[in-house]
Amino acid sequence: MAIVELKKAKKSYGAVDIIHDVDLRIEDGEFAVFVGPSGCGKSTLLRMIAGLESVTAGEISIDGEGVNHVDPSERGVAMVFQSYALYPHMTVKENMSFGLRIGKRPKAEIDERVAVASRILQLDQLQDRRPSQLSGGQRQRVAIGRAIVRNPKVFLFDEPLSNLDAELRVATRVEIAKLHESLGNTMIYVTHDQTEAMTLADKIVVLRKGRVEQFGPPLELYENPDNVFVAGFIGSPKMNFFNGTVEKSGIVRVAGAEFPAPFSAKTSQPGSLVTIGIRPEHFDRDATPDATIDVLVDFVEHLGGTSFIHGRLADGERIIVERRDVGDLKSGKSIKAGFKMKDVRAFDAAGLRIR
Ligand SMILES: Nc1ncnc2c1ncn2[C@@H]1O[C@H](COP(=O)(O)OP(=O)(O)OP(=O)(O)O)[C@@H](O)[C@H]1O
Ligand SMILES: [Mg+2]
Repeated sequence: MAIVELKKAKKSYGAVDIIHDVDLRIEDGEFAVFVGPSGCGKSTLLRMIAGLESVTAGEISIDGEGVNHVDPSERGVAMVFQSYALYPHMTVKENMSFGLRIGKRPKAEIDERVAVASRILQLDQLQDRRPSQLSGGQRQRVAIGRAIVRNPKVFLFDEPLSNLDAELRVATRVEIAKLHESLGNTMIYVTHDQTEAMTLADKIVVLRKGRVEQFGPPLELYENPDNVFVAGFIGSPKMNFFNGTVEKSGIVRVAGAEFPAPFSAKTSQPGSLVTIGIRPEHFDRDATPDATIDVLVDFVEHLGGTSFIHGRLADGERIIVERRDVGDLKSGKSIKAGFKMKDVRAFDAAGLRIR
């Protein structure tokens, strides 16, 4: 069990700064998920916590102890990689027990810990197999098992499920959630996957170009994004953004349509340009919308339970509208998409939230 704290943590490779002064405090037992575009520094930050990358400036502490100069094996962390990183010539049992055997733990203790982890991960029947005789999901469970037997204070996962097919991803995701529930350890998890981030996280860290854009519970980020970047990054399909102009009378104009400005006159002067955001799932949910917008339909994606209508506004801006029932809606048709003002978010020219 441990608090993980980063204070002005920085990482540079030569003259290139990759991580800029990151301040972050992950509470004891918390499940934190790092998300952000490719190359934003998620793996680098995780590897700095693991001790696999040095810290250029600032400090990282685990359980109150500064670890900048502590060896990875002494930090009480265990990391699970996307590539599993199992030893091909060893059996499941040998792979799982490897770290403990190197650490010269007594045999009885090793057997006990491997047995417990194997039971949790349902690997009991596979103990004598080699990695080549396992499915991708089973291999990843062995990699997770190898982390569990070390009884770490903090688990670190770097996209552990991205090599698995859709069904196994879901099953293994549930395993990881249960694992967190039963062990209660602090966990830090990197992913590209929206669903993994939203379902697993107590708190999500949104990173962009080596900086923390926002840090908070998933629903908080979904409901109250601080800026356009976070608003667009959390949620799938992403939030629709439209160019708006503030009219003098507390009215905002979007693609020729006018509706009440979703912010006070104080936060935006008449004539100023704003970005209006509405999520695809927030259209057409209410029989009495506050406003509607005209959409020319480009094409319709049917997902079974729901459909995504891809279209354009009068000024050509793209929009996605989610509807449960689209009937035989065809491209070329026009629809009115209704919404409630409470679901509208607005951002100033710098991308900061004004409502
Ligand atoms: N050893 C290195 N030397 C120089 N630059 C590096 C090194 N390792 C990583 N980088 C750079 O650091 C940045 C962050 O990389 P990192 O792997 O942390 O990104 P990421 O967010 O994990 O991306 P992805 O989602 O693609 O895994 C990238 O621009 C990368 O090119
Ligand atoms: Mg990465």
